[in-house]
Amino acid sequence: MTDCSVIELSRLPKQLRTVARIFAEAGFSVYLVGGAVRNLLSEKQPEDYDLATDAVPEQVMQLFRRVIPTGVQHGTVTVLFQAERFEVTTFRSETTYSDSRHPDTVEFGVDIETDLSRRDFTINGMALDLRTGLLHDPFGGRQDLADGVIRAIGDPAERFTEDALRLLRAVRFATQLQFLLADTTRAALTGRSRELSAVSMERTRDELAKILRADHPSYGLGLLRDCRLLAAVLPELESCSGNTTPDKGELFTHLVRCCDLAPKEPIELRLAALLHQIAPVEVPESGVSAQARSAASAHRRLKALRFPNATVSQVAHLIAQMGFEYRPNWDDSDVRRLISSVGDEYVDALLAVARADRMACSDDLGVQQLDELAGRVSRIRDRNDPLTIRDLAVGGNELAAAGIPRGPLLGTVLEALLDAVLADPRINQPERLLPLAQRVYERLADQDEGHRRGSPRN
Ligand code: CTP
Repeated sequence: MTDCSVIELSRLPKQLRTVARIFAEAGFSVYLVGGAVRNLLSEKQPEDYDLATDAVPEQVMQLFRRVIPTGVQHGTVTVLFQAERFEVTTFRSETTYSDSRHPDTVEFGVDIETDLSRRDFTINGMALDLRTGLLHDPFGGRQDLADGVIRAIGDPAERFTEDALRLLRAVRFATQLQFLLADTTRAALTGRSRELSAVSMERTRDELAKILRADHPSYGLGLLRDCRLLAAVLPELESCSGNTTPDKGELFTHLVRCCDLAPKEPIELRLAALLHQIAPVEVPESGVSAQARSAASAHRRLKALRFPNATVSQVAHLIAQMGFEYRPNWDDSDVRRLISSVGDEYVDALLAVARADRMACSDDLGVQQLDELAGRVSRIRDRNDPLTIRDLAVGGNELAAAGIPRGPLLGTVLEALLDAVLADPRINQPERLLPLAQRVYERLADQDEGHRRGSPRN
């Protein structure tokens, strides 16, 4: 089905129109395909522009001066044109997919309709003819876009068998666009989590991250659970399904609500909100707290999903710190101790995740108290109160000059000074810290000596 001009070509970037003219003047057809068409029809700004053409890669490379052979065997090259880049793929009709991810062979040179028929969803199966401005929409993508439906093109089971990544893409598009899955598409993707082992961890991570950055990740996470795909992505979260706690109700529901309520960026906040209580609450014989076990589980899972190391450690750190319980009767030294033990650079993130947790429990008082705590943290920062060993008015050099040698006891002395300064920042002056350091050192040295004398000789 070919639609009349629904997208004014004048809306497209000038460079794209020039590239299209170059194809047309050389006698080739050229179409805008994929997400750009979807976005233009939804009045959204496309992120990138993918083109489909009957020109084979070698012909495209002859048409343009700067071309990167991105994936010539699959028919894809990247054309660099006046500071813009366009991914250009020759019309394709793939045959069999024995690894559930990639076509065994790629055939070039068929028409746009065949090319569209091998794509995943109707909303992604439209093409805009860049020579005429006509929209090719053979599978009713425009209607599905208007109705808010994700529908696989043709036989859904076949589309998912060709490429298991599409199982996650279906849920991801539904979540980003807040669309429903068409019944047949939903039925075809349900229960196929084993096939997701063919999808690389990096691809799985990217789809998960897109779900988490949506307005309501809980919708996508709920779809993954209900369609029995969650075990392949976040098995620990799936285990929370049906588990209840007295204060938070069903854990899965609580965690995905937390995730919705946490800020979208940086992604660490939503990851920490989602995973902050994935370990069973009952304390095992090891005595390790549920918080610490959740942090360790999240660390393992995010590492397996190939999130960057910095993300993995930050999320685990935030989860490990989630156990703090603020009380309005805390004095400023308690607030300083919290900042110091969490690390000033993580406090805002911790408070944001804790706030989402309180909101998910509809605990208005808890939210109010956390806002109060955030205000106190910011006043402490404004006052420049010392919060770390680096902020102390004396360091290793001054202590060495005062007769405290560098060695294993020095770290303990500095910790003791920090503790004193957190309690009362006014004593952060060399003349007050040095005598204190000497007293602490002498006590430690005595203890050390006592230990050595008491220990049996070999
Ligand atoms: N496509 C597909 N099957 C896949 C991946 C992609 O059929 N597993 C097709 C779809 O037609 C898709 C197009 O290739 O629209 C471009 O893919 P991609 O750039 O990954 O997705 P977009 O639709 O552009 O959306 P997004 O950028 O949000 O991923």
